[in-house]
Amino acid sequence: MARVFVARRIPEEGLAPLRVAATVDLWDDDLPPSRAELLAHAGGVDGLLSLLTDRVDDELLDAAGAQLKVVANLAVGFDNIDVPACTRRGIPVGNTPGVLTETTADLAFILMMAAARRLKEAIDYVREDRWQTWGPLLLLGVDVHGATLGIVGFGRIGREMARRAAGFSMRVLYHDVQRATPEDEAALGATFVPLETLLAESDFVTLHVNLTAETRHLVDGRALGRMKPTAVLVNTSRGPVVDQQALFEALRDGTIFAAGLDVTDPEPMPADDPLLSLPNCIVVPHIASATHVTRGKMARIAAENILAGLRGERLRACVNPEVYERVG
Ligand code: DGY
Repeated sequence: MARVFVARRIPEEGLAPLRVAATVDLWDDDLPPSRAELLAHAGGVDGLLSLLTDRVDDELLDAAGAQLKVVANLAVGFDNIDVPACTRRGIPVGNTPGVLTETTADLAFILMMAAARRLKEAIDYVREDRWQTWGPLLLLGVDVHGATLGIVGFGRIGREMARRAAGFSMRVLYHDVQRATPEDEAALGATFVPLETLLAESDFVTLHVNLTAETRHLVDGRALGRMKPTAVLVNTSRGPVVDQQALFEALRDGTIFAAGLDVTDPEPMPADDPLLSLPNCIVVPHIASATHVTRGKMARIAAENILAGLRGERLRACVNPEVYERVG
């Protein structure tokens, strides 16, 4: 029987089909294996079900051995994987696109609204027994309805943000390296603009790009300086897309109004990170896809990717389809 290492406790929807077809070595913990443990458990496996916390690179692929047939990441993002290294060895890499799109957009919208209306401060205000009266100037925020939403990265999740924005009568601007078709733009009510225009005109800027060399620190001090002092930044993509030191300064100095972050750099964010001392920064622990149903679907796709890879079939979702061209 083929051997598969599953690098964390995952929903049963993924484990059950794997156990039928393979001998599963499950890292039965909520915390990831250490690097040494990961390297040891990968040794001799045919399939590796990795998480975004596991670095998959030449060292790990060497430790796994030449029999490794497939790597399946339990995430749509795959910046933890050295994809060219896998491709060089003819190993297909799977991810989990599609099933987490709406769940992730839901959380980005929640963060946007929570940051706009100072929800964390308001909750703390009541819990800390500071609520004395109704106040005309108490905890004033910014309106979401009718505002301009700037979507950076107009893939699946970015487009779901545009759909949600329609319900709040928002004007939608977007920027992407690839422009959407005129039909899609019309259907989503979204206008393509250069990034600088998006930053300057948006009341809310939401990030939905992959982390690449080009998008690392895409939102830096200069970008933040272009935003409105009333603007809110939301990041549910990857932490390093934002220069966090620059964000801290922008939030502290009132360069922008607030931020809502699902992702940080590093993760986990240490409790003494300066951003956590700011009232206008909401941080949650990378939970954008965290619903029972969605995580179940992600686990199932990851398992299907593993099983297809073990059978030598095309993965259901493959980030390096060129491996199939290579082997003919
Ligand atoms: C992903 O899938 O890339 C998210 O960050 C976790 O769901």
